[in-house]
Amino acid sequence: MAARTSRLPAFYKISIPERRAAISEATGVPVEEMAGCLAGGGLPSEVADKFVENVLGTYALPYGVVLNLRINGHDFVAPMVVEEPSVVAAASSAAKMARAGGGFLAETDAPVMISQIQLYDVPAQEAGRAAILAHKDELLAMARRAVPGLVERGGGPTGLEVRTPSTDMIVVHVLVDCRDAMGANLVNTIAEALGERVASLGGGKLGLRILSNLCDHRMIRVRCRIPAEALSTDDLDGEAVIEGIVNASRFAEVDPYRAATHNKGIMNGIDAVVIATGNDWRAVEAGAHAYAARSGSYSPLAVWRRVEHEGRPALEGRLEIPMALGTVGGTLRVHPAARLSLQMLQITSAQELAVVAASVGLASNLAAIRALATDGIQRGHMALHARSVALAAGASGGEVEQVATLIVEARDITLEAARRALRVIRGAAPRPRPHAEP
Ligand code: MEV
Repeated sequence: MAARTSRLPAFYKISIPERRAAISEATGVPVEEMAGCLAGGGLPSEVADKFVENVLGTYALPYGVVLNLRINGHDFVAPMVVEEPSVVAAASSAAKMARAGGGFLAETDAPVMISQIQLYDVPAQEAGRAAILAHKDELLAMARRAVPGLVERGGGPTGLEVRTPSTDMIVVHVLVDCRDAMGANLVNTIAEALGERVASLGGGKLGLRILSNLCDHRMIRVRCRIPAEALSTDDLDGEAVIEGIVNASRFAEVDPYRAATHNKGIMNGIDAVVIATGNDWRAVEAGAHAYAARSGSYSPLAVWRRVEHEGRPALEGRLEIPMALGTVGGTLRVHPAARLSLQMLQITSAQELAVVAASVGLASNLAAIRALATDGIQRGHMALHARSVALAAGASGGEVEQVATLIVEARDITLEAARRALRVIRGAAPRPRPHAEP
């Protein structure tokens, strides 16, 4: 299942109630359900009080949707929770470009997480390692007994590896298919259940027993191919834009300082979907950056190349990222806005959710580097920033757009200028002379 369509032209121009009606029409989620789930910032204080300790209240962030998203031939309306202006609009606009080339194509590994058991002060590393491997079947059977519910759902332990990251240490990895759970609790349960037995086989002292957030058996791979003409701007043709984007990619491939910012642009999209669906974004961040540094040199998670498609120039982007997301358990069951997000997405598995998040990440990356390689990002950013300044100056309703336009035109995006513009709009002050070109 997916959305009826994710193409909703001029969506940004309509009111919030009209947007809810349009998304209800596209996804089948009733408007009342949407309003109910998003009331009070999407999380009532009484529920928040059950999540963490010492609660005083809740802290809301904007909840938007990325449009135009087409993945593996299906449309999705993906929720994004993010405070940064232009991230949602940029992802929607890049998703539209990707759509011109058929949308995103994605594939996933099975949802396999790593459970780590550490032994330290190991006296005879080779003998310890051999003993553990000789009892692999016994250990896997123990692991299965530790998570009977998961085994019943078709998941469970699938393999065991022994690593020796230093001469006096043994680290056992139990690989666990977590199905639609993120898996942290399941994998930690297995690590704790096996710890003593692993130590008795391997020798040395039993150390940590915990999941690894570098879940590189749970990879998502997304790609898109965009015809040159879909990338052109007012000033540049598509071929020139491709050249600029490929240059931006190569910059990130050779320079970790740039790779960090390039990847931040990807995570703008991914984190927003991960947060909106009630998942652990710190886990996703930790895995992403550890994976980006796996070669010893920090590199970009997505790269872009010029290709020929049906005899014409096109841009191809590829993203590869480990991602542990869940659609069951934990926060999800009790967080109204997270539940709404999953309902709106109409996804069928945790891996499908990860594919959506990764596609939004690739779209966000494309939008950022296309802007950087053409107009620069400040023009678009300032226009959006102007709206926040207008709000801060006290503008409301239609005044926000009017004040924002005036202060952008005057090239004076300050609170003072916004207050002046507001007085003008309300008829309490004369209209200033337009900005004189130098
Ligand atoms: C800002 O949130 C993200 C960017 O810096 C990403 C990039 O530089 O690619 C625009």
